[in-house]
Amino acid sequence: MKILHTIEELKAAVSTFKSEGKKVGLVPTMGALHEGHASLIRRSVAENGATVVSDFVNPTQFNDKKDLEKYPHTLDADSKLVESIGADILFAPEVSEMYPEPDTRHFSYPPTDEVMEGMFRPGHFNGVCQIVSKLFMIVEPDRAYFGEKDFQQIAVIKAMVADQQYPLEIVPCPIVREKDGLALSSRNSLLSDDERKIALNISRSLFASVYYAKDHTLAETREYVISNINSVDGLEVQYYEIVDGDSLKSLENWDDSDYVVGCVTVFCGSIPVRLIDNVKYKTRS
Ligand code: PAF
Repeated sequence: MKILHTIEELKAAVSTFKSEGKKVGLVPTMGALHEGHASLIRRSVAENGATVVSDFVNPTQFNDKKDLEKYPHTLDADSKLVESIGADILFAPEVSEMYPEPDTRHFSYPPTDEVMEGMFRPGHFNGVCQIVSKLFMIVEPDRAYFGEKDFQQIAVIKAMVADQQYPLEIVPCPIVREKDGLALSSRNSLLSDDERKIALNISRSLFASVYYAKDHTLAETREYVISNINSVDGLEVQYYEIVDGDSLKSLENWDDSDYVVGCVTVFCGSIPVRLIDNVKYKTRS
């Protein structure tokens, strides 16, 4: 595996893969890799002749400077993991390489980028689109892999791909959880042992709500999740929305869509750490 830092080197390596007739898979990450990222990389390695993993903490998607400062940087450990899975390239550029000039492009894909995270993290998805579009233009991958823990991010990126007509496939990959149900996240490393224990109530409430939903209305189920999580000391729901899985529009009735997903954001602990998770009530097979 090669670790590359410049766009020029990356383009040259990708063009060699393409001249060898290889399909190229891209796994965009911000590093601090865990088993969730590993599952994306494994899938890309299985499905493509060559895999590029990017490892870049993208400043333009942080609307909170403190959040950016706290973000873990673990390039050494990341490179060992990426190499052990069999990816070909780890791309770890400096900020000045990706943003030699401020990026003034503005991406807007309502309603996907306006609801939920869009309301509470203004500018976040614009920053995500800026960096992901740069990576798409540099690597020109055949497939790009994203985790469903960031469910809304996938909907926004799909809207951008349709709008910009990038000729690639977005591959959503299932959430990876600890054995006890906690969704894997780079932010989990910021939780104390006690906070980690109480954070478990997030996934438990979501899973329990899937059974509850069978004989309750959508509004009752939404309320059930919010009150369950808020009843735990140290947890506070920022929002819980039950939405159409494509448009992300909030739903009023279970019959309003055949793809129904509940997305939650919760503050956990005293600092606090902001955790997200989601659950599917209806999926298309
Ligand atoms: O999901 C992430 O880690 C980031 O938002 C992404 C897609 C790598 C863009 O910086």
